[in-house]
Amino acid sequence: MDTISQLIRTVLADQFGLDQSVELSRPDSQFGDYSTNVALQLAKPLQKNPREIAEVVASKLRENPIFSAITIAGPGFINLRLHAAYIADELNHAWSQTYGENTDGAGKTVIVEYPSPNMAKPYSVGHLRPGNQGWAVKRLMEATGWHVITDNHLGDYGAPFGIWVVGFLEFSSEAALEKDGVYELGRVYIQTKKALKEEKERGESVLADEVQAWLLKLEQGDHQAKAYSERFNALSLAHIHAVMARLHISTDYELGEAFFAPRGKAAVQTLLTSGIATQNADGSIIVPLDEYGFDVPLLVQKSNGAALYATTDLATILYREETWHPDRVIYAVGSEQQFYFSQLFAMAKKLGIQTELYHLWFGFIDQLNEDGTREKMSSRRGVVLMEELLDQADAKAREIVGGRDISDDDIKKVALGAIKFSDFAADRRTNILFDWNSIFALTGFSGPYIQYAAVRVNKILHDNEVAQTDISAYAYETEKSLLLKLTDYPDVVRLAARELEPHKVATYLYELARELNRYYETTRVSDAEPIEKAARLQVLEKVRHIFGHGLSLLGIEIPSQM
Ligand code: ARG
Repeated sequence: MDTISQLIRTVLADQFGLDQSVELSRPDSQFGDYSTNVALQLAKPLQKNPREIAEVVASKLRENPIFSAITIAGPGFINLRLHAAYIADELNHAWSQTYGENTDGAGKTVIVEYPSPNMAKPYSVGHLRPGNQGWAVKRLMEATGWHVITDNHLGDYGAPFGIWVVGFLEFSSEAALEKDGVYELGRVYIQTKKALKEEKERGESVLADEVQAWLLKLEQGDHQAKAYSERFNALSLAHIHAVMARLHISTDYELGEAFFAPRGKAAVQTLLTSGIATQNADGSIIVPLDEYGFDVPLLVQKSNGAALYATTDLATILYREETWHPDRVIYAVGSEQQFYFSQLFAMAKKLGIQTELYHLWFGFIDQLNEDGTREKMSSRRGVVLMEELLDQADAKAREIVGGRDISDDDIKKVALGAIKFSDFAADRRTNILFDWNSIFALTGFSGPYIQYAAVRVNKILHDNEVAQTDISAYAYETEKSLLLKLTDYPDVVRLAARELEPHKVATYLYELARELNRYYETTRVSDAEPIEKAARLQVLEKVRHIFGHGLSLLGIEIPSQM
């Protein structure tokens, strides 16, 4: 609450003649509504006992009728309790259709990159977190005033293509491809990788050479290679788009590795000329990063002249700089690539690029084994397919709403809400546990729990008209903790955006839903007296806004019924 900290700041200026910014926190409700340790901070500069400072501040503040109680605790914490009507008033002043948003990022451009799946394989849960977290971060950036550009950095270049073609010729058929599309490609990809591994163990390289030959053909523009590439890519891309549509995520651009490969090779030559990169005896090209604390250099071109992942990323960085002049670029990519990105960003520094490059990484998705132990999610085939996961979630959601007349659309919203919310269950760097029962738990920290609370508010507001009754005399004591919670929302969004941590929004929404459920237990709304009813419905309208806003930051929709 800015007004309160401002008030205390003024008291400090009057009493002690210094300008000190005041941080307020929200203590356990038994102590007060807000609390500050400013007296402790000032003890040193003022050469005074902190309790003494706190006493002076408290007695001054007590003159102000907005406070119902001010107490001093411990060595000098000031605990403040406000009249509920004052909180309601403040909230009304702060209220607008964009309540919760701010302009912290005004005038700045951020590129957010997600989900960036690889074309060679069907979309797996490996790209679930990049998609969810990337989308939520994009939404947080938008809500805090940034100009946001989103890009799906497709993995559509390099060895996978060669493996595809060799595998298709070796282990598949037109008929199989016709029938299973991208899943056949995925199967072939896995089988071929296995065959390559076995061949290597035997000390042979027949398949591996073929893979390289196809890659070279593609680079040289061979028409057969191009035809394969275009065909496989079209199949795979249609699949990726279908999955993204189901996940309710999209991007402005889709500039993949293939787009950047030729540009990357040109850029590598420039780096060679300028001396930033050096060529090894075997012809490969590296960028030494010793001065950035890496004893391993970044390999930017293979000895046979082929482009690498880093080659395409070098070009991507340069292209984005020229095209969008971003202030920040956020890469939503799994934790496995942490070392790679730290090297990549060091190279960017070496090139003189000042843009803030940020690797938004996450922990793994774990699953529960039958014996109760946890391990990284996998199926017997080695990957859990995104479409299968979504189908299972739909079925599970259908089970929950069991038998009732709920539209397919609503069921899908619940299913997706459950999956996405579990992604935000903890700090994004923590491994999350994907457990079918708890992600749908209607009583716990789950998407459906919050969606249900939102549906309930919407229903009350739908069934009851908000009357134009004069509610100025209403005291709001019953609504107090709910109001305090609503007041917290803008700070939550600000902090979540600052730390790129959508989890903070999820936690807040969970607490709001819980607060609301407690409120219902003790308070009548529909059949309350006119003044109470009008005031309560107005509070619920604010709750509705925040549920809608907060869930949309997480990419979760509210069903019309549940
Ligand atoms: N396609 C890559 C993968 O799935 C992620 C791409 C990340 N973005 C990047 N600019 N390298 O591992």
